[in-house]
Amino acid sequence: NWTPAQIIEDQVARVREQVGERHVLLGLSGGVDSSVVAALLHRALGDQLTCVFVDNGLLRKDEGEQVMETFSRHMGVRVIRVDAEQRFLDKLRGESDPEAKRKIIGNTFIEVFDEEAGKIDNVDFLAQGTIYPDVIESAASKTGKAHVIKSHHNVGGLPETMKLKLVEPLRELFKDEVRRLGVELGLPADMVYRHPFPGPGLGVRILGEIKKEYADILRDADAIFIEELRRSGWYDKTSQAFAVFLPVKSVGVVGDGRRYEWVIALRAVETVDFMTARWAHLPYELLETVSNRIINEMEGVSRVTYDVSSKPPATIEWE
Ligand code: XMP
Repeated sequence: NWTPAQIIEDQVARVREQVGERHVLLGLSGGVDSSVVAALLHRALGDQLTCVFVDNGLLRKDEGEQVMETFSRHMGVRVIRVDAEQRFLDKLRGESDPEAKRKIIGNTFIEVFDEEAGKIDNVDFLAQGTIYPDVIESAASKTGKAHVIKSHHNVGGLPETMKLKLVEPLRELFKDEVRRLGVELGLPADMVYRHPFPGPGLGVRILGEIKKEYADILRDADAIFIEELRRSGWYDKTSQAFAVFLPVKSVGVVGDGRRYEWVIALRAVETVDFMTARWAHLPYELLETVSNRIINEMEGVSRVTYDVSSKPPATIEWE
């Protein structure tokens, strides 16, 4: 029965012993796990830690700014931000297959990360936000037990190409323990208790081919949805909620004219393990507010729909 403070103290000591005076590199994504590793390693190692944050152009609204604000300005962590939006968009152009898009995004991330790592001198260790369920999952997939429907790129890939020793201070912890550590380390609660966000980001929430125009529209619609969920108290009652961009045009009437604009789908689910999920029974008034705001405040969207599919058979993400 350890307290978060004791776990931190213990891990700080272990990391210091493992790393000594040498340097550690961490890929910071803005997600809970890598954020907690960053805060923990910063406490243990200070300037011996360098984080690389790759902006792939498929992040949520203001996400890059928030990461820099929290870690660089607020906590004084050394963070290199790489603006790789154009590079990701170029690689993704013309590709509409979901698994192919995932592979491109994962591989491009590794390329960009490797390049940045190569510019930093004297790196001996690579830190990763691997948590206990990841360890179990990748062990299971090696023995062929896991049914891998989608190629998650959170674990694997990097260590082989980097030839660095691994630092994985969260390896023995469950998600709720990681969150409690994050709070204890001073991370903002809304970062630590954020819904999960897939590695390929908005790349799997823009159906089919990815374009910057689509990503920009989706970011704004998603931000409105999340803002209203938080305002109404529903954010914490749902396990994951987000907007999806549908690349189809639907008719809308604006003044005297008819316009064909894009369609946004809203998805919100309740789940414990993300293997099965029920669509969240959000109040009609809330859905009405979100829909009105998206259609009235944004250009380019004429219609909003709510996804009432459960998993199985529908997955949580649309791709
Ligand atoms: P699905 O859509 O399979 O999602 O019901 C289950 C959970 O996994 C997340 N997800 C991903 N996470 N890379 C990730 O890191 C991916 O490619 C990916 N696909 C789905 C999804 O957001 C949900 O939490």
